[in-house]
Amino acid sequence: MDEDKIVRLLKDVKREALAIYSNFRVGAVLVSEDDRLISGFNIESSSYGLTICAERVALFKALTEGARRFKKIYIMADGTEPCPPCGACRQVLMDFAPDIEVVMLSEDGKRKAFPLRDLLPHAFNNENLRF
Ligand code: THU
Repeated sequence: MDEDKIVRLLKDVKREALAIYSNFRVGAVLVSEDDRLISGFNIESSSYGLTICAERVALFKALTEGARRFKKIYIMADGTEPCPPCGACRQVLMDFAPDIEVVMLSEDGKRKAFPLRDLLPHAFNNENLRF
């Protein structure tokens, strides 16, 4: 997978983010098992708590487009440091894409990458729903 292509896509996607309240734009690109690239950006609501992060937008788009297995998610936010996914996104990603690598890139080229499982140890999952 050509990471330069993903960086270009992240920058383009992030630019379109609907983040008029926080002015903090985030782009995400999910890579499916068959190398489809599904993008998302954060979408903010006037009722702030209804905002949805870029990562979940990308994941829900991917699921509605039929993708079910994933390899990686790339994240790029405004600012000079790689941006980690929030706890809510970690949980939802764990539900649908537990084996992915999370790659956080800054616009100026910094890079951090971790398996999702390392970012959410002892995660709640559907096994816990058996009672
Ligand atoms: N945000 C994301 O899109 N992804 C993250 O991982 C962290 C936060 C968004 C939500 C909100 O629109 C803005 O960033 C500020 O929290």
